[in-house]
Amino acid sequence: MSLQSLQQALGKFAQAPAGHLPTPLEHCPNLSHALNLSIWVKRDDCTGLGFGGNKVRQLIFYVGEALAQNADTLPITGAVQSNFVCTAAAFASKFNLQCHIQLEERVSPTSELYRRNGNVMLSKLLGATLHSFPKAENEAAADAAVYALAEQLRKDGHRPYVIPLGVNSPPLGALGYVQAAIELTTQLQQVDTNVDGQVDEILIASGSALTHTGLLYGLRALSQATSVRGVCVRRDATQQTRRVRQRLDDIEALLQQDITWQDNDINLYDSSLAPGYGQLNSDTEQAIRQAAQSEGLFLDPVYTGKTMAALMQLAKSGQLQGKRVLFWHTGGQSALHAYEDQLIPGGA
Ligand SMILES: Cc1ncc(COP(=O)(O)O)c(C=O)c1O
Repeated sequence: MSLQSLQQALGKFAQAPAGHLPTPLEHCPNLSHALNLSIWVKRDDCTGLGFGGNKVRQLIFYVGEALAQNADTLPITGAVQSNFVCTAAAFASKFNLQCHIQLEERVSPTSELYRRNGNVMLSKLLGATLHSFPKAENEAAADAAVYALAEQLRKDGHRPYVIPLGVNSPPLGALGYVQAAIELTTQLQQVDTNVDGQVDEILIASGSALTHTGLLYGLRALSQATSVRGVCVRRDATQQTRRVRQRLDDIEALLQQDITWQDNDINLYDSSLAPGYGQLNSDTEQAIRQAAQSEGLFLDPVYTGKTMAALMQLAKSGQLQGKRVLFWHTGGQSALHAYEDQLIPGGA
């Protein structure tokens, strides 16, 4: 598909005017040296609005549609330390909307800091109304509850636009990452990545999978063969592979543009996931420390720390040898403060 056709397909969707784009593409000399690789980082932690992150690109499309429908309230669901809901609250502030956040108890046990600091504190500062959803890991039930909340808001005279997470909703947010694929392709033509402006492999966190799948769709639509490895942060590789496949089909349906992709384009890695969503492991802790102390780069415990831990595991096992690797920084650092007791034990 040509760049113009892809842009035209995206142009049919409303977009909220927000975000600092394009984001920088930077080389990481110290990490590259330490891991004996060429490592680049796509700084989507710098997308602007609130503390930025990948969800800004997604919310540009959700909030664009909400504004087109003349909505006045955004009901949204996510984990207690979700960056998505907090960034939605920032959009709500900017576009004079109200935000109702349903916080899912996905992580247990949790500390006092986890429950009140980081994104929880920021969402309160942004003026959002918080609701609790105690049923742990149940995506369909969480979406059903947020639609019920929207119904109540409608009865109370509001005009809600629900931002769901589950696979039964159109993958509007993924369009932000189809757009990011265009941005990266253009950027790689301008930046000296040493050989032909290419990277061999992209590592990116894969949760709801809209970021990962949007990027993969966009690159393949532009006939870019770069390998995209999704790093599992919520489900194992088998379940996440199924989800990415479904979301690829959903993006094709939404954009009404089929693309050519192979089964082996869907590449998931889950060895840095344990013990589970939102829970630290020692490789992730080490990755957070090493990125901070060698590049001044802050990662988060839930998404980008696990993605960097995956990169380091793969580098150590020789699977990335000789490759130019792009680490896609999706943000999330505002959750760091909720994990202080684990990252800096004793406050020392
Ligand atoms: C910082 C960060 N990175 C990555 C992701 C994963 O993105 P997605 O849900 O589109 O897979 C999230 C999702 O909440 C996130 O907050």
